[in-house]
Amino acid sequence: MPNQFLTKYEFDADRKNYYIQKVSQYLKDHHKKAVAFVRSFGCQQNESDTEKLSGMLEAMGFTFTQDPKEASLILFNTCAVRENAELRVFGILGSLKKIKEENRAIFVLCGCMVQQESVREKLQSSYSYVDLIIGPSALSSFPELLSEKMENESARIISVSENISRFDEDLKPRRNSDHSAWVTVMYGCNNFCSYCIVPYVRGREVSREPDDILNEVRTLIREGYKEITLLGQNVNSYGKTLSSPISFAELLRRICTLDGDFRIRFMTSHPKDCTRDLLEMMASQPKICKQLHLPVQSGSNEILDRMNRKYTVESYLQLIDHAKALMPDIAIPSDIIVGFPGESYEDFQKTLSLVRTVGYERLFTFIYSKRSGTKAAQMDDPVGAKTKGDWLNELLLEQEKITSKKHDEMVGKCYNILVESKSKEIGHYTGKTEGYVVVDFPSDKDLTGKFATVRITGAEKAFVHGQLVE
Ligand code: 5AD
Ligand code: SF4
Repeated sequence: MPNQFLTKYEFDADRKNYYIQKVSQYLKDHHKKAVAFVRSFGCQQNESDTEKLSGMLEAMGFTFTQDPKEASLILFNTCAVRENAELRVFGILGSLKKIKEENRAIFVLCGCMVQQESVREKLQSSYSYVDLIIGPSALSSFPELLSEKMENESARIISVSENISRFDEDLKPRRNSDHSAWVTVMYGCNNFCSYCIVPYVRGREVSREPDDILNEVRTLIREGYKEITLLGQNVNSYGKTLSSPISFAELLRRICTLDGDFRIRFMTSHPKDCTRDLLEMMASQPKICKQLHLPVQSGSNEILDRMNRKYTVESYLQLIDHAKALMPDIAIPSDIIVGFPGESYEDFQKTLSLVRTVGYERLFTFIYSKRSGTKAAQMDDPVGAKTKGDWLNELLLEQEKITSKKHDEMVGKCYNILVESKSKEIGHYTGKTEGYVVVDFPSDKDLTGKFATVRITGAEKAFVHGQLVE
């Protein structure tokens, strides 16, 4: 059976666990080396999915390596949002072909990239050494597909499905951090921003049941996690499709009633769905970090309209004003796309002006990348790559000035941080404020994984210096 297409995978925990056991037994019986090299591309949702794939690998008996040459299984969890992420994966796959030949390692390609037919065709024709191809909605089928592959060496197996129908609540992630954890609250997206491929590769919005989310958070707190980041492509539309609908603000309220010393973050919020209720909930709950990732994408109403964003610059600014009135210290990072089809220099200047008006803490900036199948891919795009690059640099310079000023303004003030690790400087540690600013500070004690209060003593471009406050 050289090729098998499972176009739909219905999640079933018993079936998954049966195959986990089967692979584990197979590895023992055949004295197989079980060492995995795993790499994640793209957003936090992908990182979270990668932790789940790693969790399954661990349950099957795999250990992990940072060196692909040592691996008997190589797994990439890919991203499709921009073309260069895809080109990178193809490049790396090409460079690892030799390892495939030498180690006979099993190659697994997961994630958004493989949801696209054009990518699967390219894999079929030019990357025949990729053994398993698994879309993001078919994650739980991994042990079953791996088991099949092990029993039939020549098999090449593809499992993709457009929509997730149910959640695998039984998936146990192998988390990268002992103190910060991702918790997915919803998958997919219904918004169809005209440039974006996500709704096509991750399917429609599906929310997890609030009790399942609460149970996961409760367990994490019991295990000592101090920071929980709730993930969804658009968390503000959480809960709308549940049999008993609840709002995202209500979900946050319920999480905040859990006992324990922890803090909550969430991302991403679509400005069109960001409600006053949500802002009021944020303001009233000390456990919620005062940070709101609110991607604006452009400062030109014409471009926003053609992006299908469904808000205007004016309504966006009203939202920001409201958030700042309720939470004067709120940190607002944003995403911006430069060079959307038909964007003029005047449009771009409007974006710069908006950036100055809001004073974002941080910006995630991207040059528009054409994604086939999206509406924007049909639009005329006359501005050249060089010009778009110049605009991006102009934006980056502007934002650098704003971030520097924000860091300077922190000097002398006190912040509660979660200490994450030792810093490069001996005897120093780093942590993050609620607004996600990195603080470097000296300490005799290892405070990793603990909350600490620091007074900011100096500012750099990328981080600030602090001193512990007793
Ligand atoms: N080109 C460039 N940037 C994009 N993003 C999404 N799609 C594209 C694209 N086709 C950016 C948006 C989004 C972030 C996650 O990625 O800014 O908020
Ligand atoms: Fe893409 Fe828009 Fe959905 Fe975000 S809200 S994932 S940008 S379609």
